[in-house]
Amino acid sequence: MSLQPHGGVLVQSYLPKEPYKDIQQEIPLDEIALSDLELIAIGAYSPIEGFLTERDYQTVVESLRLESGCVWSIPITLPIEENQAGLVEKGQKSRLVYKGETYGLIDVEDIYEPDKHKEALLVYGTTDEDHPGVKKLFQRGDVYVGGRITLVKRLSKSFTEYTFDPAETRQWFNEKGWKTIVGFQTRNPVHRAHEYIQKTALETVDALFLNPLVGETKADDISAKIRMESYEVLLKNYYPKDRVFLGVFPAAMRYAGPREAIFHALVRKNYGCTHFIVGRDHAGVGDYYGTYDAQKIFDQFTEDEIGIIPLRFEHSFYCKKCEGMATTKTCPHGKEHHVILSGTKVRGMLRSGEVPPSTFSRTEVIDVLIKGLKQESK
Ligand code: ADX
Repeated sequence: MSLQPHGGVLVQSYLPKEPYKDIQQEIPLDEIALSDLELIAIGAYSPIEGFLTERDYQTVVESLRLESGCVWSIPITLPIEENQAGLVEKGQKSRLVYKGETYGLIDVEDIYEPDKHKEALLVYGTTDEDHPGVKKLFQRGDVYVGGRITLVKRLSKSFTEYTFDPAETRQWFNEKGWKTIVGFQTRNPVHRAHEYIQKTALETVDALFLNPLVGETKADDISAKIRMESYEVLLKNYYPKDRVFLGVFPAAMRYAGPREAIFHALVRKNYGCTHFIVGRDHAGVGDYYGTYDAQKIFDQFTEDEIGIIPLRFEHSFYCKKCEGMATTKTCPHGKEHHVILSGTKVRGMLRSGEVPPSTFSRTEVIDVLIKGLKQESK
């Protein structure tokens, strides 16, 4: 398995010295576009070099590929409001601005009106605005600007010691001599099922790249700060130091289930992973996706097209009879012996100060979560 980035070349378009003071035209960014801008520039979204032009957008939405044929599942777009569209001109350079600061430049190649209904249906599998990804899609501007970008200013980092560009993680993995690295995406506080699937994977590969998403998430998800603390305490007490690398993934969560699983895998390939964990209802929300849809979608592509190996895991749980973590693949006992708590249930318990069982989550982790939530609610 080679550590080739997706599409073969790691995109590098951070050019802090690029002059831009004379560029009049400016486009405001929301938080999602701001994080996407940086992620494009540091190569996390290779081979994408900018916000999608109409042709790429169409093929990504309709057939999970860029116009070039390269697999890509989530449209990375730059939405603007209709009344701003007249201020942006095709063929010109525009500054990309967030809270009055210029972070990047775009060569405006395309200005187009997307069919958001179609985008919702094909990317998210629903047009229901109760779906947080769909809601966001409809809230954002109705006109998209496409074109190659340059990053001129890095974003301020919330987790400095855990922030690495793909070029850095690749170098680190290389220096460590790791040949097989499994990537793990998460947006939730860590629990025993996470630990179980991570360690099961770790039994067969050289290292684990623990890569919690810390960009925008829906309001009731636990904050990234608390989640990171829960990882620190877990790693300190229960993981081998020399085989685990913790680094944040500063992207927004889309909750697009299967489509996002492909996207998550391709991005981790760019960070240098050879394998990627896809468990139950990966990147899902509510009942919008089937439990294993995010695993099945990988079957639509050849191994070469994806270039990172998905490690599929069944729904895992603590079994009181087995006295350990298991899945239906390994445990013969009935449901009544299994400890299964939904994310929503656990968040509710934690917010009311109730302690979830240690068979669900490590005591040290629960302590961090309860303390953190108490502090945040002050
Ligand atoms: S996600 O939205 O980032 O996917 P989460 O942080 O809950 O959410 O999950 C991280 C990864 O662990 C995903 O691959 C998910 O499928 C997997 N996962 C979470 N809980 C379980 C479980 N009980 N059994 C198997 N896989 C799980």
